[in-house]
Amino acid sequence: MATREVATLKLGHVELATPLLLAPIAGYCDLAFRTVCREYGGVGLACTDLLSPQGLLRGTATSLDLARTNEVDKPIGMQLYGSDPEIMAQGARWAVEHGATIVDINMGCPVDKVTKKDGGSALLTNLDRAVKLAERVVRELEKCPLDAEEWGKRIGGVRRQASGIGHQGSVSLGASSSRPVPLTCKMRLCWSDADYHAGNACSPHLARMLADVGVVGVTVHGRTTEMKFSGVVQLAGIARVVEEVGGRIPVIGNGDVREPEDAVRMMRETGCNGVMIGRGALSTPWLFRDTWSAMCGEAIPSTPDDAEKTAMMRRYFEMMREYRGDHYAMTQIRRRIAWFAKRMIRKDPVTGRIVGVKPLKEAIRVAVGPADVHVAFDRFAAGELNQFAEVDEAESGSV
Ligand SMILES: Cc1cc2nc3c(=O)[nH]c(=O)nc-3n(C[C@H](O)[C@H](O)[C@H](O)COP(=O)(O)O)c2cc1C
Repeated sequence: MATREVATLKLGHVELATPLLLAPIAGYCDLAFRTVCREYGGVGLACTDLLSPQGLLRGTATSLDLARTNEVDKPIGMQLYGSDPEIMAQGARWAVEHGATIVDINMGCPVDKVTKKDGGSALLTNLDRAVKLAERVVRELEKCPLDAEEWGKRIGGVRRQASGIGHQGSVSLGASSSRPVPLTCKMRLCWSDADYHAGNACSPHLARMLADVGVVGVTVHGRTTEMKFSGVVQLAGIARVVEEVGGRIPVIGNGDVREPEDAVRMMRETGCNGVMIGRGALSTPWLFRDTWSAMCGEAIPSTPDDAEKTAMMRRYFEMMREYRGDHYAMTQIRRRIAWFAKRMIRKDPVTGRIVGVKPLKEAIRVAVGPADVHVAFDRFAAGELNQFAEVDEAESGSV
């Protein structure tokens, strides 16, 4: 099949191998999960979950766990939240010193704990504050540039996969061969539904002002803060940002991408330069691989079979144990099996009923330790737990 040329995504001097980004999803997109997605291929950039700069600077265990990365987990965006320019600037410096390829400011989180302190999407209600915050962080990043050798490490890690990723990301270095870590911002369309429907969304204006102060790219989740995660993503709202920015910086579209064609459609209908995928990846970590193939006009690789999915889940579980310990791995695998199970649903060839892997989920839910989890996978692989059962509520639920 013919291979189509797809424009690469450049965030400042950092060129990504694909225009597909793994979203920050607090509590889910940890180092182990990012690695799983990267191993399938197609991930141009992955991001940490939102990080508290105060927590990083104080060295609290939770913040350090969340910020954990390694040489394979590159390129990596580290996302900070907050509203105090000095603390955010120091947090950004910390991120540079601890492996970030990109620093991102969260301007989209709708959660009270964050917005009550003027962070996250509360910044959409005070554009002056948002722009000054970003400008202060850009200036701080300029003070701590990285040399060519370090940039080589920050951009590496993207592997050539069967899906045909043709190149690794790259970095263009100027004469001084020393460049700062670029800043991006992730936002929603605006705070209120009324503003959005009246044509007064602030995101186009904000994106343009952020470009003026040196932000190299913006991600736009096509919902308002009031929508939280309900309703349908508004592609027209993303398109307005693309139009207003006029190609000065790339705009990354985000929201409701569950299948490769959703991403293709988002790019076509909004003109955005890249697509960020969140919840879709939780059940389908190979979605980046498949989407990249679709974008390149290539055949979409075959879906991993149950044996491959089981091997992936085991590997994910073992990486969580290695990076975060058994307690964390056990808690996570119990919640995550429901997500992976969504892609193990099928039609029973005999009865025609829609069935899922309830017995496997149940065995993992009652597992007391890691050995039990592996026994559950062994039994599933041996067909002992392979009794597919009718799909229950949890299998069709979401985060
Ligand atoms: C449980 C949960 C946690 C999230 N955590 C973050 C976060 O830490 N930072 C952020 O910018 N967005 C966060 N998001 C928003 C996602 O990054 C993304 O913008 C949103 O889910 C829409 O994309 P999707 O439909 O592909 O999931 C979170 C979303 C969910 C559901």
